[in-house]
Amino acid sequence: VHHHLEESIRPYIDLIDTLRSVGIQKDLALPTIVVIGDQSSGKSSVLEALSGIALPRGSGIVTRCPLELRLRNVTGGVSWKAVLSYHKKKIEKTAERKLRAQNELAGKGVKICDDLITLEVRSADVCDLTLIDLPGIARVPVQGQPQDIGNQIKRLIMKFIEKQETINMVVVPCNTDIATTEALRMAQEVDPEGIRTLAILTKPDLIDRGTEKNILAVVQNKVIPLRKGYVMVKCRGQQQIDEKIPLVEATQIERDFFQNHDFFRPLLDENKATVKCLAIKLTQDLVSHIKKSLPKLDEQIKKQLWDVRNELKECEAGPPQDLKGAKQFLIKILTKFNDKIKSLSFGELIIKDN
Ligand code: GDP
Ligand code: NA
Ligand code: MG
Repeated sequence: VHHHLEESIRPYIDLIDTLRSVGIQKDLALPTIVVIGDQSSGKSSVLEALSGIALPRGSGIVTRCPLELRLRNVTGGVSWKAVLSYHKKKIEKTAERKLRAQNELAGKGVKICDDLITLEVRSADVCDLTLIDLPGIARVPVQGQPQDIGNQIKRLIMKFIEKQETINMVVVPCNTDIATTEALRMAQEVDPEGIRTLAILTKPDLIDRGTEKNILAVVQNKVIPLRKGYVMVKCRGQQQIDEKIPLVEATQIERDFFQNHDFFRPLLDENKATVKCLAIKLTQDLVSHIKKSLPKLDEQIKKQLWDVRNELKECEAGPPQDLKGAKQFLIKILTKFNDKIKSLSFGELIIKDN
């Protein structure tokens, strides 16, 4: 996978990443791509194919924390590099360690954690993209998990996908009933017009014979219309992973699969198939989305600045000269200060609790 993207893309993505790294998303919603889907729908496989790195997987919930995956295309002799960070600390340097970091943050076991882990991958083989991988929607709790784990995950997913600034990438396997997929239902709930929802259809090699035409109609946006449409991808199956088929080879296998497919071959020309096509589409979507969000972001920042300036103005004159007025002024300041402290330590408690 090698993409020559316009020079103009980089600054937009960098701006948003910088804002997110200083924690501004607590006050302002930042544009981003969020990946959602049922457990085993193929989320990690799609992310692996996009990033070229092996992500930890398993039958249970491997991804228990939201993972921010920053892909950086670097050209000119720079070798592959991955940096994992949490808050402002850089924790580890390899992808396999992600699992360990998640355990440190979320506590060993099965609980869901709200804090963002960042994995930055610099390589000549990735495209410029920032994605957030959310825990898969669990239908049945695994041992030790609270009974309401499904709701906990849905709540976490909602927190991300309900934001107008989010592009929701919904991963749905071709061999399931696409129309009744929970992740697609959630995306439709927060985005009824399908303006910021993009669906990825996985496992096209596992579909039941005879359903090809129906699935082709879905990809061609004729069944559940989404403004951003559908992309079909074929990733490595379990056997190919066990056989350690490299991702580069998998890309070729994917291309051959579509080229030789009686029903899905036209999708190649329609730019509706392959991981490579998905990567290009995602980058373009993200940048146009960021461009659209910038005026609103600017407005929000101006409003907050205005509020802060007003507060400052109140303090500017200092306490009134009369004793009663001075007392009231002091009480007001102390109450505000107290509230601020309370909200800060409350935030800290939440982190420790996790
Ligand atoms: P996640 O739980 O959503 O992250 O799902 P995974 O990416 O871990 O995939 C679940 C299983 O489906 C793994 O065994 C993958 O190898 C397999 N898988 C994913 N995509 C495809 C595909 O396109 N074709 C086939 N045959 N298997 C796939
Ligand atoms: Na996956
Ligand atoms: Mg996964």
